[in-house]
Amino acid sequence: MKDATPLKNRTQPLRVTRNLRSEVADRPFFRSIGYSNCWEDPEILQEALQVGSGDVCFSITSGGCNTLDLLRHDPARVVALDFNPNQNHLLRLKIAAFQTLEHGEMLELLGIRESTRRRSLFRKLEVALPGETRDFWEANRVLVERGVMVSGRLERYLLAFGNLMRTIYGGKRIRRFFDCDSLDAQRAFYEKEIDGPLWRVIFDLFFSRAVMSRTKDKEHFRLVDFQDFGKIFRARTEHAFTRIPLRGNYFLALILLGHYLDEDALPAYLTRANFDLMRERVDRIEIVTGEIEQYLVSLADDTFTRFNVSNLFDWIQTPIFIRLHEEIVRTGRNGARMANWNTLLARPIPAEVTQIERLAIGAELLERDRAFLYANLEVGVINK
Ligand SMILES: C[S@@+](CC[C@H](N)C(=O)[O-])C[C@H]1O[C@@H](n2cnc3c(N)ncnc32)[C@H](O)[C@@H]1O
Repeated sequence: MKDATPLKNRTQPLRVTRNLRSEVADRPFFRSIGYSNCWEDPEILQEALQVGSGDVCFSITSGGCNTLDLLRHDPARVVALDFNPNQNHLLRLKIAAFQTLEHGEMLELLGIRESTRRRSLFRKLEVALPGETRDFWEANRVLVERGVMVSGRLERYLLAFGNLMRTIYGGKRIRRFFDCDSLDAQRAFYEKEIDGPLWRVIFDLFFSRAVMSRTKDKEHFRLVDFQDFGKIFRARTEHAFTRIPLRGNYFLALILLGHYLDEDALPAYLTRANFDLMRERVDRIEIVTGEIEQYLVSLADDTFTRFNVSNLFDWIQTPIFIRLHEEIVRTGRNGARMANWNTLLARPIPAEVTQIERLAIGAELLERDRAFLYANLEVGVINK
C-alpha cells in the first residue's frame, strides 16, 4: 500500500516560485459547461497509468468521467482540478448522484435513461451539494431537465452531427451499424452504407477548422498551423469504424445514436456492477478549482503517484509546457506515471525534462482508443 495520508494533511504552504497563468482561462468557452463527458478512453488511461491500491492521483476534471473511473482501481486519493468551476459543479453533481440516488435513478438524472422526473431527482440529491453548486444547477435547471450527460457544448456539437447522420442515412441504418459482429462486418458496412462523396463533404465541413473553432473556441487550436481538420478527423473516425469493435464503443454510440446502445454498454463507472464500489469510494475525490499552472507550483514535493493531464498541453506555449513538466517531476514521486493526449499537434514530453522517461506504449494504446479523436498519447514515468 502506497502512502494513503490524505492530501489535505500533507499539503505544504503555497510555494509560488513564479506567476504562471493560463493564457486561455478567460475565453468564453470555459464559462459554460464545455464537456459533460471525458472524450478520452478510460481503459487506455488505465493501461497508461496503471493505477493501483494507495495511489495518489492528479486528474483534470473535465466531464468528471475519468476522475470517477480512476476510483475503480482503488487509489487512496484523487485530486480533480479544473479552472472552469462549472466542470467541478458537474463532477459534484455526479458524486452526489452516487451518494444519494439508486443506480436507476442516477441513470435517469444524468440523462442516460428516459425520465420525466429529473427535477424531483435533483431535489433529492441537492442536499448533498455545496451551496454554490446547488445555485449553479438551479440557475441551469434546463441542463438538468435535458440530462447533464448531453449538456456540454462539445456534446451538443457532436450530437448535432449524429442527428444529421440519422437524417441523411436513416436512424435504422445507423443503428444497424452497431449490430455488426466483427471488424470485417463493420468495414463492409462502412464501405457499402456510409462512405461516399456526401459523407466526406459533410464530415469535412462539420469538422473543419472554422466550424470547430466556433464550437470549441479557436484558442484550443492556437498552436496548430494547418487547416485540414476535417480530413484528419475523418481518417480517425474511419479507423474507429473499421478497426475498433463498435459494440463496446459507447463514445460512438453517444455521438451517432444520441444515447448509449443499452445499459450493458455504458462507461464502466456508470454500470450497475460498479455502482456500490463507486458509492463507497467517491469521497476519495478532492475537488480543486484553479489553473494547473498555479496549482502545481503550490504543492509540496513528492505529492502524486499518477497524473491524468487530459489534453490540456494542446494549447500551452513551449516555455510553460516545459515548466509544467518540471513541476510534474517535482510534485510527482519517484516512479510516478503521467499520461496526456494531443488532439492535432503531437507534443512529446520535452527532452529538456530528463527526469521523465517517455514510454513507447502511447502509440499502440492510441490505436485502440475508443474516443479516437487524438493524434498522440504521451505516457511517461518519473525517474528521480
Ligand atoms: C483539457 S480539456 C479537454 C477535454 C477533452 N479532451 C476534449 O477535447 O473534448 C479538459 C478540461 O481542462 C480544463 N482546463 C483547460 N486548461 C486548464 C488549465 N490550464 N488549468 C486547469 N484546467 C484546465 C478545461 O476547463 C476542461 O474542463
